Formats: sequence, structure tokens, C-alpha cells
Amino acid sequence: MQFPSLLFTMVNNKAFISFVLLGASLVVNVLAQQSSQDNVLETSTKLKWTDCYTQLQCARLQVPLNYSDPDGGTASIAVIRFPSPLAGTDDYKGPILFNPGGPGGSGVQMIADGGAAFSELLGANFDIVSFDPRGVGFSTPRVSFFDTEAQRQFFGSFDVINATSDGLARIWARAQITGALAARHNQHNVLEHFNTENTARDMLRIVEAHGQRNIQYWGFSYGTVLGATFASLFPDRISRLVLDGVVDAEDYYATLWSKNLLDADKTLQIFFDDCFKGGPDLCPFYEPSPQAISRKLDDLTRATFLRPVPVLTGISYGLVDYARLQMSIFQSLWSPYALFPQLAQGLADLINGNGTTLYQIMEQPLFDCSCGTPTPPTIIADGGIAISCTDGQEVRDTVDELELYLQGLLRDSQWGEGMAKARKETFPSHPILWIGNTADPATPIAGARKMAQGFPGSVVLAQDSPGHCSIAAPSVCTSKFVRAYFMNGTLPDEGVVCPVDGPIFTGQSVGAADPSVRRALGVDEKDGDIVQALARLRRSFRVPLPF
Ligand SMILES: *[C@@H]1O[C@H](CO)[C@@H](O)[C@H](O)[C@H]1NC(C)=O
Ligand SMILES: *[C@@H]1O[C@H](CO)[C@@H](O)[C@H](O)[C@H]1NC(C)=O
Ligand SMILES: *[C@@H]1O[C@H](CO)[C@@H](O)[C@H](O)[C@H]1NC(C)=O
Ligand SMILES: *[C@@H]1O[C@H](CO)[C@@H](O)[C@H](O)[C@H]1NC(C)=O
Repeated sequence: MQFPSLLFTMVNNKAFISFVLLGASLVVNVLAQQSSQDNVLETSTKLKWTDCYTQLQCARLQVPLNYSDPDGGTASIAVIRFPSPLAGTDDYKGPILFNPGGPGGSGVQMIADGGAAFSELLGANFDIVSFDPRGVGFSTPRVSFFDTEAQRQFFGSFDVINATSDGLARIWARAQITGALAARHNQHNVLEHFNTENTARDMLRIVEAHGQRNIQYWGFSYGTVLGATFASLFPDRISRLVLDGVVDAEDYYATLWSKNLLDADKTLQIFFDDCFKGGPDLCPFYEPSPQAISRKLDDLTRATFLRPVPVLTGISYGLVDYARLQMSIFQSLWSPYALFPQLAQGLADLINGNGTTLYQIMEQPLFDCSCGTPTPPTIIADGGIAISCTDGQEVRDTVDELELYLQGLLRDSQWGEGMAKARKETFPSHPILWIGNTADPATPIAGARKMAQGFPGSVVLAQDSPGHCSIAAPSVCTSKFVRAYFMNGTLPDEGVVCPVDGPIFTGQSVGAADPSVRRALGVDEKDGDIVQALARLRRSFRVPLPF
């Protein structure tokens, strides 16, 4: 079956880009909105930590907007850490920086949710550190294309291809508006400084402010573009670099976004296969063959297209319609271990006219307009759009060209090798560890293999699982390689494929406190802490969808 929601995401992105860049000399204005953190934290060129959230510390680091113009304007980067309890001892091994992906994902949010679990996974020897990239979240100035959060909410965020007969044209038309709004908010000319190269330079500043020379880093999804960019700029400043869920950076910088879908259908097929294997007791959407499950989903999709289902929950309400169904399936492909059981239940209920469980896959609390207080939520898409537009080559598609692009995505295996340009090889001061899942719906493992070639000495570790980035699935094997790499710098042998621990449909959550559950899943008891940390991470942190 086709995957319109994925296409929506990619095409929507492309359309935004085409729009924003159409705006002649791209000068997008940025509202330097104050976030609540600003009131508390002073910006400094040193890291002055203040306690924040639970067990965490926050600081604001001042960096130049333009590294070629150090006396010009500055940006303030929101930094957060789960501090190592071993700081000051011989066992302390410095900070590991994280980027959650996006572009435009909030590292502050990521560590607020998952910092303690990452520390458990990797060892107490490290500070677990992240930051909101310039333009994003709590960092200032912050990109916003709208005057108020209420305006953003009323404009809405997406259209889905084929949800209406004019779906693609609507996406294109809305992108014209987004671009115009971006251009309208353009007094300060700062947008052109919000790009991946400058963010890589900011990371070096964060490392140096920690008193270290070289970086230790784990980047997910778009975070692999950021990590690879850092490696190209500062090859002799690398101590550890784990790039997980690898984006083909060449494709990204060319604003093609054409390679992301290669393995998406494979991930959906795993839903059908594993639901069948799980049987009717563990998978409520069960049918006597994977093909029959796939057909049942097609039938349900058609039925939902014709008859959307109303839902009221305790915290919000809305429709499960074609678009919502597609987006929820897409979200589930991202995190199959966390969401396939809920998806199966939700689809089974939806057949019976109850959309609640399906709706809850992507449920957000209702928007509440606190009129007059300009405190937007931490994560909005504008920063990510700005970053990918500033990074990428200019796109000026008409709606017809967008149609052609879409057709290209549908034949995506044909996009390809011809585009690979010869790249200059980079020799990093420590070899890079690349990680790819065998069925990643957003970043096929082919991206990891291609990128690794540009960095001699690298190793690609494959994880035999569906989902986006390694932490979407439980693998003690992968975790041990990552931990050994950070602790000792050791790499797996080339060609290693890590298995995952346990099936998706278990009726129980992997890493449950009960050791008998773990024994039943074949997990060695002494790895119980890794299993539990991974389970906590899957609950608390999800690599953000691109926009
Ligand atoms: C959208 O609809 C068109 C025409 O009905 C069809 O050819 C196409 O395959 C559909 N696209 C997707 C992604 O479902
Ligand atoms: C950054 O500063 C340099 C030196 O003043 C200038 O040439 C360059 O145009 C600036 N870059 C941007 C994006 O403004
Ligand atoms: C729909 O399903 C939810 C979740 O299982 C349940 O709580 C709710 O009572 C159901 N609603 C109806 C109308 O049956
Ligand atoms: C790091 O190396 C030491 C010494 O060889 C070893 O004892 C330890 O288990 C290794 N740590 C990891 C996490 O692999």
C-alpha cells in the first residue's frame, strides 16, 4: 500500500522550502521572543549552571550570530545537562552532547525527558548534555513566522495528499502563505545565521565551555547531518561520534529529501508480519495471514475516508479521518515497539466505530489561548523550516513541479546513485560509529553506508529492527557497543548486525520490573539495567517527526 502521510511530510517540507526561498533574497524576520527561561538565566560565554527540572542543570551560552563577525550580534543557546555524579574524580569522562533530530528538535526537551535514562544507559562517568539549536526552542533569537501562538493554531499545520482531491495543491498554496509570513517578519536579518554549520560551531563552544578540547556526541536523524558537518569542519576535534539513523547529508544539503522513504514500506510490512506472528491474543488486528491484515487496513482506510469517526477523550476531541489515520500509522512506524500494540488495538476498535485508542496515538492537549502573554511553546516547526531552508539549495517549484517531485518519490529506488558526487574524504581524529536499522521508515541504512565512505576508519553497525534510530527498539547488543565506544573508544567489527530482544507483540512491556518477564524474553539478568533504561527511553523520548 502507498504511504500518503509520509509523502505529505516530505512534500510539505519541500513545499515550504520552495515557498520560503521563493521570497527573493531570503531575509526572514525573527521574533526574539522571551521564553520563561530568559527571565531566570543570565547569558554568558561561560556555562553558569542553575538547577532546573528534576536532577538537571540549565545554562545559557552566548555565541556570535556570525562566526566571521565576532563583534556583531549574539545568540543565546539554551544548554541543559544531567550532571555526572563522578565529576571531579578519575572516573569522570566529560560531556556527551546529544541532538534529537528535526531539524528544529529541542535538545532541552530531550534531556528533560530522557537525561537520566541516557546516563543509566551509558554510565555515570559522563555528563549527559544537550541544547536547543540556534533559532529553536529556548534559544534566542527564536524563529517564529506568526505574531501569536493563536495565529499559528488557527492556520493549522498540515494537509495530507489525497485526503482531498486538491491535497497537493493545498500544500503548495499554504506554503506560499508560510513563506510570505516568514518574509513579513524580517526586520533583523538573522535567519541566514540559523544553519547547521553555525550550530556545529556552537557545539564546539559548548564543549570548550565544559573545559574539553574534543567532542563526544550522539546524534539522531537530522542530528547525523549535524554530526557529519561537525566532523567535516573540525576533523581533529573528535573524540567520539555516534551517528544514528543516518540522513544522506548530500541529499539533505541539495534540498532533495528524496532518499528518506526507501524502507518505509518495509516497516509497515513488519507490522503485518508481526501482528500475524503475535496471533489474535496479542494482536487485536490479527487476520490469518499478513496479506489479509494488509487488506483489512486498506478496507479500513477506505471506510474512514468516507466516514470519519468522532472522538471525545478526557483532554481533547476531534475526528479520526483519513488524514489522522495516515499520520497515526506514520507515527507508529517511527516507534514500533512503543506504538504497534496501540496501533493494532486502535485499528481493531476503529472497525467497531470506536476511534479513541487510535486518536490517542497523536493526541495533544487542546490549545489554550493565554491571550496577551507571548510565551509560545518550546517546540514549533518554524525553526526547523528555517534551518533546512538556510542549509539547502534553493527550490522554486511550481505546483506542477511538485507533482513531478512526488512521482519521483513514489519511484524512490530510481533516485539515486547517479547523484552521488565525488566527495572529499575526511579523516577524523577518532573513527565514527554509524548506526542504521534494517527497516527504518525515515532513514534507510543505505544512508549510513554511503556517509561512512566519506570518513575512512568508520564502522557501520546494523540493528536488525524496524523503527527510526536504534533506540526505537530494544537491543542490549547495540547498547553495549555504544557504551563500549563511549567508554573505551572501541568499535564493533565491520558487518556486525545486532538483534533485538523480544518480539513487538508480547502483551507485556519489555523491561518491565518483573525479572520473570525478562527471562521469558531471553534477556540475560545482568543486562536488566540496560533493558530498563531502554524501556524508559522509549516511553519518554521520541525522535521528532520532521516538522
Ligand atoms: C492518490 O490518488 C491518486 C488518484 O486517485 C492515485 O493515483 C494515487 O496513487 C494516490 N496516492 C497515494 C499516495 O495514495
Ligand atoms: C558574516 O560576517 C562576514 C564578515 O563581516 C560577512 O562577510 C558575511 O556576509 C556575514 N555572513 C552573513 C550570513 O551575514
Ligand atoms: C472506546 O474505547 C475506549 C478505549 O478502549 C473506551 O474507554 C471507551 O469506553 C470506548 N467507547 C465506547 C463508546 O465504547
Ligand atoms: C573498557 O575496557 C576495560 C578494560 O579493557 C574493560 O574492563 C571494560 O569492560 C570496557 N568497558 C566497556 C563498557 O566495554
